[in-house]
Amino acid sequence: MARSPDSVLSCVDMNGTELADGVLRYAFRQLLGNNGFVHVVDVPESFDHVAFLKEMGEFQPTPTGTVVGDVKPERGMDDVNHGQNRGALTPHTEGYEFQGTPPRYLALWCVTPPAGQGGETTIFDGHRILAEFTEEERSHLRDTVYRWGSTEGLARHGVRPTAEHPVLEERDGEVILRFSTNYLAVPEGDDVARRLVDRGNELYAERHIAVRYRRRDLLVWDNWRMLHSRNAFEDPERHLKRVQIAA
Ligand SMILES: [Fe+2]
Repeated sequence: MARSPDSVLSCVDMNGTELADGVLRYAFRQLLGNNGFVHVVDVPESFDHVAFLKEMGEFQPTPTGTVVGDVKPERGMDDVNHGQNRGALTPHTEGYEFQGTPPRYLALWCVTPPAGQGGETTIFDGHRILAEFTEEERSHLRDTVYRWGSTEGLARHGVRPTAEHPVLEERDGEVILRFSTNYLAVPEGDDVARRLVDRGNELYAERHIAVRYRRRDLLVWDNWRMLHSRNAFEDPERHLKRVQIAA
């Protein structure tokens, strides 16, 4: 069952007056740190999403070099697991298939909300999956190097990255969680990794948060902590913008 977002920030106060820049940023940082994500609503037309997000860090290009990109259905991609179609995705963290550090934050904002059913971005806190694992099991996920593949969608565009790294990795005193339902190669007999993927999917299915967009809404999450996915949709006009922000 989907839950409603429990980390939401309005750009206007109770009088309908836009929040001062400093107030908005303060509340945003606080919610992001506490919950791992923020859904920013009541976004005025004058709001500059790109400028706001640049304050959080350097933008990181995607595998196809896009820095500020579009998420909208692309013709001929409906048959594969890929962001640029109308299908559902499976839970993952971004950037697991690349050797380097995954983006710290991901941001999506809405240009055109989908009419009709579906099209929600869904997220779930990876810490709630890890809470089911003992310290010893977490050490296993830190000390074991796994192979990670990439989606057929990227392959069709000539990008076929694979990487080798553990599920959990420490960086500057913080823990990075990598997760992929389909593209983490679980070795025969590795019950801990098997359970991570299986329980991760079960918990995700039961308790994920679904974000339904209005025009200009902004969703930002901590990609070292949160899993994300998407519900299928019908409306070919659904259009989001997307950036990934480095550590
Ligand atoms: Fe993704």
